Amino acid sequence: MINIAVTGASGKMGTLIISNILKVEGAKLSAAFDLVNIGLDVGEVAQLGTLNVPISDVKDIGSVLKSSGTNVLVDFTIAGATVVNAPKAADCGVNLVIGTTGFTDDQKATIEAAILKNNVAGIISPNYSVGVNVFFKVLREAARYLGEMDVEIIEAHHNQKKDAPSGTAKKAADIISEALGGKEYVFGREGLAPRGREIGIHAVRGGDIVGDHTVLFAGDGERIEIKHQAHSRQAFAGGAVKAAMWIARAKPGLYTMEDILGL
Ligand SMILES: NC(=O)c1ccc[n+]([C@@H]2O[C@H](COP(=O)([O-])OP(=O)(O)OC[C@H]3O[C@@H](n4cnc5c(N)ncnc54)[C@H](O)[C@@H]3O)[C@@H](O)[C@H]2O)c1
Repeated sequence: MINIAVTGASGKMGTLIISNILKVEGAKLSAAFDLVNIGLDVGEVAQLGTLNVPISDVKDIGSVLKSSGTNVLVDFTIAGATVVNAPKAADCGVNLVIGTTGFTDDQKATIEAAILKNNVAGIISPNYSVGVNVFFKVLREAARYLGEMDVEIIEAHHNQKKDAPSGTAKKAADIISEALGGKEYVFGREGLAPRGREIGIHAVRGGDIVGDHTVLFAGDGERIEIKHQAHSRQAFAGGAVKAAMWIARAKPGLYTMEDILGL
């Protein structure tokens, strides 16, 4: 049995991840953490029925992870919280699946160092959907042939999303930049803004859009658009639980969704 704990258990992603854990054979929800609903049964908060797992205060994360025999922690919260909680979990020998986005380079490096120092297995991915990870692979390939074209990335998300541009858009830009030997990024344009050889990145926020990403390669007389659209958060939650089951059995180290999906 793989014991999985969830941080951000009262949130949109945390709730859905818990409902996915309940459906996977060989997986058990071992603990739940959040800043809100502390002491309440997480199943009742998520309207999944009583699960006899209380929501614990993140300040007790170390002791609760140990007493619950947790093998892997799935964290979908906010960057400032993950950078504190993930190293504490790694210190307890707990493997990590990090879904939070919006990290600075330093925050990401802190979490990666904690994973490596404590000899646990971990993954930090801005997008756990199978489709987006295939989209990344297609982008890497497309960039090899379309490097002379102008590259623009347009992402759209719901009006509650805190960070911009999305972690997925930034990762798409990094993949294309790497394939083209390094590119500058320009985030939005205003006023006099002549185009150079940069990758333009644009964030749209509105309504309940789950997550759209379009990469536009525009050249003389033609353009190619490569697009992924998430219809529901299930695309991310299912992938995150798949990653948790895989990471729980993996050798210590840092992994990507490409490893997990065999891409
Ligand atoms: N990697 C992916 O595939 C993917 C997909 C969707 C969302 N996300 C990211 O996941 C994160 C959460 O998204 P969401 O839509 O569920 O947000 P949300 O606001 O619905 O949920 C976040 C939860 O984290 C809790 N939280 C905040 N600070 C905390 C702390 N210090 N300790 C413990 N819990 C804390 C909040 O109380 C809330 O319940 C965001 O960074 C989002 O961009 C990633």
